[in-house]
Amino acid sequence: MFVSENLAVNGQGHLTIGGADTVELARQYGTPLYVMDEQLIRTNLRRFRDSMQKYYDGKGYVHYAGKAFTCLEMCRVVASEGVGLDAVSIGELYTAVKAGFPMEEVGFHGNNKTDEELRYAIEVGVGHIIVDNLSELRRLEKIAAELIACPNIMFRIKPGIDAHTHQFIMTGQIDSKFGFALETGEAFDAVKEALSCENVRLIGLHCHIGSQIFDIEPFEAAAKVMLELMAKIKNELGYEISALNLGGGFGIKYLNEHDPAPFEVYAERVSAVVKEKCSDLGLTMPDVYIEPGRAIAAPAGITLYTVGARKEIPGIRTYVSVDGGMADDPRYILYQSEYEAVVANKAGEERSERVTIAGKCCESGDLIGEDMPLQHAESGDILAVLATGAYNYSMSSNYNRLQKPAVVFVNEGESRVVVNRQSLDDLISNDV
Ligand code: LLP
Repeated sequence: MFVSENLAVNGQGHLTIGGADTVELARQYGTPLYVMDEQLIRTNLRRFRDSMQKYYDGKGYVHYAGKAFTCLEMCRVVASEGVGLDAVSIGELYTAVKAGFPMEEVGFHGNNKTDEELRYAIEVGVGHIIVDNLSELRRLEKIAAELIACPNIMFRIKPGIDAHTHQFIMTGQIDSKFGFALETGEAFDAVKEALSCENVRLIGLHCHIGSQIFDIEPFEAAAKVMLELMAKIKNELGYEISALNLGGGFGIKYLNEHDPAPFEVYAERVSAVVKEKCSDLGLTMPDVYIEPGRAIAAPAGITLYTVGARKEIPGIRTYVSVDGGMADDPRYILYQSEYEAVVANKAGEERSERVTIAGKCCESGDLIGEDMPLQHAESGDILAVLATGAYNYSMSSNYNRLQKPAVVFVNEGESRVVVNRQSLDDLISNDV
């Protein structure tokens, strides 16, 4: 009935998440409110972890992409499931350090890392740094020498796969700010340079072909291209790369009509391609990493709002306004992302009308969605927007000086705050 398996309707006709009554949560913690089901986060982490281990014969690893959603407690949960972390800034690294995350299980990303970030990554002992470009390689080599260190690195490669066209195609692909181009020889030359460096150790190649991808073929194609590059490096430079990182991007069910393949199917199919290709090319099977973010966090989260104004414009549309909007969920204004929504206190009723859900920011485009099927919503109702666990809290802002909502974890009916709602004083805390 709902997009996520952890949502249900209780005897009072209220929406529940992870066994907790959402109307009660809204009353207890206030709105807007992000609610995440800890058990579903854990289930998702385990599914990825176990399938990677299974299909890559003990050589498959998961680094959760913290950009989807992170905070101290999320780092603790990820670590406790034996899953690593993909971090993209000194802020994400710092959060992991403060959470006591095992830093050797962290991969550090970014297309424009600062010297400060590179130094910090080495100092806190990240497992590997995914180097994006030559200037970074050279700066890293210098910083590592100063620190008398030799960090493991991977290279981010543009594999030339565009996963976002319906029929995926091999593109020119030079037009991306991320990584080394394959077809110009840039990637191969960079590998040669890295092999001559004394203070970095090249262990892997990385690619990430996009996000919210439903098809498995582009992932298979990317794996093939990457293994071919590994074979070229082995044959021409006599160096065998030991790790292959295939990035994230696994699509999730935002709308009832979405039907993403279960991750196990992805792992089975892509691992078969990797094994076959390794044997064809005479390569030892590398350690294989993936970096799912959305697929772990999004289905586990919902956002609760209180409905305020209702505006019916005859013959045009009905606006239902809520007490949040683009500041806590900028995905509609950025990408016209679609969600399912439910009036949480009327969740047992039919969704009898179609409305535009509007936020409270001073901006016409501040919408949660248009033409959304919904129960008849009136002022004071609680609105739940589903599958908001990824890229909502993490991309939230203080636009219009709105306070960022709290994040609450529920676990088998119990709830606890893991990120406090910002106070009014928080809003002025950096003002001088
Ligand atoms: N690895 C790398 C190198 C990435 O750039 C990303 C996402 C991931 C892993 C995780 O991808 P996922 O499994 O979550 O699809 N803000 C956008 C999504 C941006 C994704 C950026 N990179 C959104 O709200 O849809």
